[in-house]
This record gives sequence, structure tokens and C-alpha cells, in this order.
Amino acid sequence: MRVLLTGGAGFIGQHVLRELTRRGHQVRVVDSMRVDVHGTDEAWRPPPDVEFVAADMRDNDAITQALSGIDSVIHLAAKVGLGVDVNDLPDYAASNDVGTAVLLAGMANREVQSLTLASSMVVYGEGVGLCRQHGRVGPGPRSASDMEEGRFEPPCPICGVPLETSLVDEDAPLDPRNAYASSKVAQEFYAANWARLTGGSVAAMRYHNVYGPGMPKDTPYAGVAAIFASALRRGEAPKVFEDGGQRRDFVHVRDVAAATVMACERHDTDVRAFNVGSGTPRTVADMANALAKALDGPSPTITGHFRLGDVRHITADSSRLRNELAWLPNIAFADGMSELANELTPNGVGSKREVLR
Ligand code: UD1
Repeated sequence: MRVLLTGGAGFIGQHVLRELTRRGHQVRVVDSMRVDVHGTDEAWRPPPDVEFVAADMRDNDAITQALSGIDSVIHLAAKVGLGVDVNDLPDYAASNDVGTAVLLAGMANREVQSLTLASSMVVYGEGVGLCRQHGRVGPGPRSASDMEEGRFEPPCPICGVPLETSLVDEDAPLDPRNAYASSKVAQEFYAANWARLTGGSVAAMRYHNVYGPGMPKDTPYAGVAAIFASALRRGEAPKVFEDGGQRRDFVHVRDVAAATVMACERHDTDVRAFNVGSGTPRTVADMANALAKALDGPSPTITGHFRLGDVRHITADSSRLRNELAWLPNIAFADGMSELANELTPNGVGSKREVLR
């Protein structure tokens, strides 16, 4: 297939690009090379045989041009992370909402019928909670005063007792709780509108916490695994927020890339969301311990600090992806964490040897 890959110079994008070319697809990459992601001096070059268009997703002419001769689009270009503060809102809306709208209009004009979209588990907010008395409930936002007093589990909205969590499937209600999450929900809805108007197909890949080689480091948008690996390389203990019991599903970027390319190849009707997770939730403290062990570094510190925008647990049921697209994750957690921990930084720092020095 001739695939347009947006955001192909990014963390997940580079792995998707490698998987696409490995599977024999012809790829054209669009990426704006935003400075807050790529810095000013990093010159990313696509591999030979891959066309590269440096353009912002909001550039209607460039995007329409880039869609020429394309069979299928994988749309990863987006502003990611939690953001720093409320001043980030316009950039999330512009980069993610408007960028997607421009892409979809271009696809309609060029009669490109297949879209694989990077969405996120954050669309579910706090997900589904289990109350002993009230069964399945939607947990409300956690209050600052509860968290200041160390009560981190979200309470039942009816009786206030701490909830157990259960895995969310793709039909769980959407409940975006920050700008990034809202923009991902918007992208899914715009894509569904486009599909209804054009008869196109959409696979919305709701990624869990993606980690692995090439993860953004030392930026406000870095994921927790990269933050902990960087701290350990400096010889510092990872600082775990809350009580460390918050759960995430850390899924390796090569497994995510495989899932994304399989969706692009195999999903060709309708609008379908797919949770993309390893299937084994871990606590953030467990993940910190795995990295500390891999680097023989100091034990994690449980800080009790918290970020108000964080949800407590994000754990999904990814069985739809396994059943419908025959995807299986291949990389074991301990192996993936060890690979991340020992990844060499551009200046050669980062191996176990360097840390022990
Ligand atoms: C992450 C992604 C988000 C994606 C979502 C999907 C990032 C920055 N965010 O959100 O784009 O949509 O997964 O599930 O990659 N923490 C610490 N110490 C720190 C930093 C964070 O303990 O120094 C904790 C946080 O409180 C949180 C957990 O680690 O409980 C995960 O945080 P983070 O990596 O920022 O990701 P998510 O909010 O899960």
C-alpha cells in the first residue's frame, strides 16, 4: 500500500515507519518537526525510499498535496502529553483538532478511504470503578484536599467509599479530563463524521502508556518511564508520585507499531476503536523498581506529591485488538524496561556501565 504517515519523525512514528517499510509498504512521511519535540539542531532524515514532507497539519495545500496517490493514512501527528498549564489549550486545539480536520477534508477531496488514528486511553478519564454497594460506577474527579491527605483512590460518587477499578473496554463512556484527552476525543468524533460522509473506515488506536527506545526525555511532555530512566542515569532515585499504587499498562513501542500497521492493513470498514495495551497493568512503583533494578540504581522514593490532572488508574481490556486483528504483544515487561534503561543517549551516557561509574 501507499501509506501517508503523519508524525513519522516522532517517537511512535519512527517505529511505525520502520514496521511499514519492513512489511513492504511505500511510505510518505509528513512531519512539522516542531521545535518543542525535535529541538532546533536535530536533523531527522527519513530512510532511503521514504518520501518526506516537512509540513504542519494545518497547512491545507501541503496536506492535500501530500495525499496525492495515497491509499491509506496513519495519523500520529499531534501535540502529546498532559501539557504544562492552561496556556497550552489553544495549541492542543489547533495542532490536534484543526490539524485532523484539515487532514480529513483533504482525504475526502483525494478520495482516500482508510484512516488509522492515534488515540489514547485518556479518553476514558478515570474509567470504570467498582463499588461493593453500588456496582459499576463512573468515578468523579479526585479532590485536591483528599489527595493532600493521602487519599488517592477515587471515591464512589454515591457513597464515597474508595473504589476498586475494573478494565475498561472500548464501549466505556468517554470522559476526557484534560486538554490532550479532549483533543483525542475530538479527533475520534471528527473522524467518525468524515467516515459517515465519505464511507471511509477508521481504526482509532487507544494507546496505553507507550515506552521504549527513542522516548522523549527531559521535556514537560516526557512519559514517566523516560523521566525515571533519566533520573537513574543521573544517579538519582526515581520520584514516584502519590503512593505509587496508581496503575498503568506499559506497552512497548514496537508492539504498538505492529498493532498500528496491522490495523492499517486489516481494518477496512466502519469506525472501530481498539485499546492497545500489554494486558498486564503495573503500578508506577513497580515500574520504577524494574528500572532501578535494570540500572542497579537507587530505590525509588514515594513522594506523596500529586498532579491534579492525573487519573488514578488507566487499565484497559485490549482483547478486541487480539481477537479482531490477531495482534499479540511480543515484548516482556522486564525485557522492555531493561532495554529502555540501558538505551544509549546521543552522548553515549545511559548504559549500566556509565551509571555505575
Ligand atoms: C500517558 C501519556 C499520554 C497517553 C496516556 C495513555 C505521556 C506524558 N502521557 O499519560 O499521552 O495518552 O499515557 O494512557 O506520555 N508520575 C510519577 N513521577 C513522575 C511523573 C509521573 O510518579 O515524575 C506518575 C503520574 O502521577 C501518573 C503516572 O506516573 O500516575 C503516569 O504519568 P505519565 O507518564 O505522565 O502518563 P499518563 O498521565 O498516564
